[in-house]
Amino acid sequence: MKAAGITAASLALLAAPAIAQAPAAPAPATASSPDGTVSVTLAVDGDGRPFYTVSRKDKQIISPSRLGFLLTDVVKIDRRLAIAGQEVRDFDETWTQPWGEWSQIRNRYRELKVHLKETTALARVFTVTFRLYEDGVGFRYEFPEQPNLVKANIADELTEFAFAQDGTAWWKPAFLWNREEYLYNKTPLSAVSTADTPITIKLADGTHVALHEAALVDYSGMAVTRTEGTTLRANLTPGAGEPKVQKTGAWTTPWRTLIIADDAPGIYHSHLMLNLNEPNKLGDMSWFKPGKFAGVWWNLIKGEWSWARGPKHGATTENVKRYIDFAAANGVGHVLVEGWNVGWDGDWFGNGHDMDFDQPTADFDVKDIVAYGKRKGVRLIGHHETGGAATHYEKQFDTAFKFAADNGYMAVKTGYVTDAGQMEREDPDGRKYREWHQGQWMVNHQLRKVQAAAKYKLAIDAHEPVKGTGLHRTYPNYAAREGMRGMEYNAWGGKNPPEHEANIVFTRMLEGPMDFTPGVLSLKGQADSDILSTIAKQLALYVVIYSPLQMLADTPENYAKYPGPLKFIRDVPADWDETRVLNGEVGDFVTIARRRRGGQDWYVGAVGDEEARSVTVDLGFLTPGKRYRAEIYRDGDDADYRTEKRHSIAIERRTVTSADSMTIRIAPGGGFAIRLVPAR
Ligand code: NOJ
Ligand code: CA
Repeated sequence: MKAAGITAASLALLAAPAIAQAPAAPAPATASSPDGTVSVTLAVDGDGRPFYTVSRKDKQIISPSRLGFLLTDVVKIDRRLAIAGQEVRDFDETWTQPWGEWSQIRNRYRELKVHLKETTALARVFTVTFRLYEDGVGFRYEFPEQPNLVKANIADELTEFAFAQDGTAWWKPAFLWNREEYLYNKTPLSAVSTADTPITIKLADGTHVALHEAALVDYSGMAVTRTEGTTLRANLTPGAGEPKVQKTGAWTTPWRTLIIADDAPGIYHSHLMLNLNEPNKLGDMSWFKPGKFAGVWWNLIKGEWSWARGPKHGATTENVKRYIDFAAANGVGHVLVEGWNVGWDGDWFGNGHDMDFDQPTADFDVKDIVAYGKRKGVRLIGHHETGGAATHYEKQFDTAFKFAADNGYMAVKTGYVTDAGQMEREDPDGRKYREWHQGQWMVNHQLRKVQAAAKYKLAIDAHEPVKGTGLHRTYPNYAAREGMRGMEYNAWGGKNPPEHEANIVFTRMLEGPMDFTPGVLSLKGQADSDILSTIAKQLALYVVIYSPLQMLADTPENYAKYPGPLKFIRDVPADWDETRVLNGEVGDFVTIARRRRGGQDWYVGAVGDEEARSVTVDLGFLTPGKRYRAEIYRDGDDADYRTEKRHSIAIERRTVTSADSMTIRIAPGGGFAIRLVPAR
């Protein structure tokens, strides 16, 4: 095993103030990843305060950082602790994802468990478990059942992340009214305030670090607040009551994760988050087939149709059949329906008490529509908008999911549109509480929903969700989620800027699949407003922003105007064997290549920001000796997101091999997409 990552100087610093008052600190516990790249140390200072450090390639990434808990009712747990023992074990396995960006995932780590015990009469005990990977570390607290902590009422977690260097941070604010739907800020790390995770940091020496959490179960979501300099500290999402988290008996926290790599692509390639989740608990997932969906949606978002009943009602039998025709003609397996059910009339925002998820409106003839879809090989995806009335929805889990299953749906979309901190929970006595979208109760609600849906063989596409923490490994029907500003913001004022997608690939996408709802080829939002993109970039999003349920967000009428670009959307799959981020810088550009699950065809997507740039794609990922037909969809030479030329696209074909590379210009606000098919 390698030497401790903590430096002699910092150990001396830790121990120095203690020497005068207390006995010398005991030896730190330390371990390195199996390949020796990443190491951690846990030490206890003279006051018995535990600190950990993280190093990579012998350079400190996290300087001594505190651990512990603030409790609402009893003395906090953060000092007068001693290391009572430690254990190390190695693990190495390769597992198969039923669907995803990679079919095979290697999970190779060294685990260090450090047992800590209070030296006071309380004698409370816990373990800090580290899992060390080549590309980072995850650690969590594990509390056994014990007499002096029967119930833990957690006011906050005192876990710190003291970065050893300053750097540039990409982060979105936490605890503001619009939930998780904010643009990313780019600031010095030393200027972050309170951020949701994942937060991605390019340190001064170029090392990239992403701070997030894995396996968020029965706990509240972790945001971070900068306390001083380059130190961030956990700031748990509140609950309706005083403690942010309540635990009884034996319990663990989610994993606090640091992915560490040389560059931005390296961050994306990490499997650490999935690996820190438990294996599939649902067994056979063959019923869930990744695919694409059209939807009665963009006209709603633009305000041309309504969710509510009335003259503008969108989800009518006639309209839905037209969307089914479009889907069938383009090999799209599903059509999303929104506003198909009773409850949308009036004020549904923040108030979903009228929503009934087994009661279609009179002009939505579900039996007729489902039979029509069946003949054409198209299934429905039903939307459940709760308007934040979470308990009201929870009471309907069985009837709602039975209705969906009886009508042949493979997935439902769920929504929780209400302001942050305004989710409504009702206890069995009818008392009401206001919860946060990422608080402990909602974390549990979302998982209960996923488990209830699984019983009916239904996948969940969650909007206004809890952030992704890799739970789709354990519950592979937890297929997609939103949790960031998606395409809908391009319908409204304050559109997503051109750099948005190059930001989210290296931040939000570390959570897992996103229902971004790409493919608005009309590039038009509400009142004919312009979207800040080119058409080629819309195509690239099908490769760049991963989801096993990938939407064709525009209307059939608009797609009819763009048959050339539509071909790429028809061809691109939504499930992959292999993914490679070929190049990229956070917020500037990214190029991703993916190979179809079970196929030999590759798809490349690249998106840029507001600047024009040329990107070189090295085709070395192709099978050597094979010839491929490349179908290239690139920005026209005059394309520009700021002008009417945003629709300018060049579609070209050529034959290539793995020895070739292509240099392609990305227009301002643009991108490109390539399909590579083995040539006969
Ligand atoms: C917001 C969601 O993001 C969007 O997809 C949905 O159509 C509306 N809420 C209505 O539920
Ligand atoms: Ca939303």
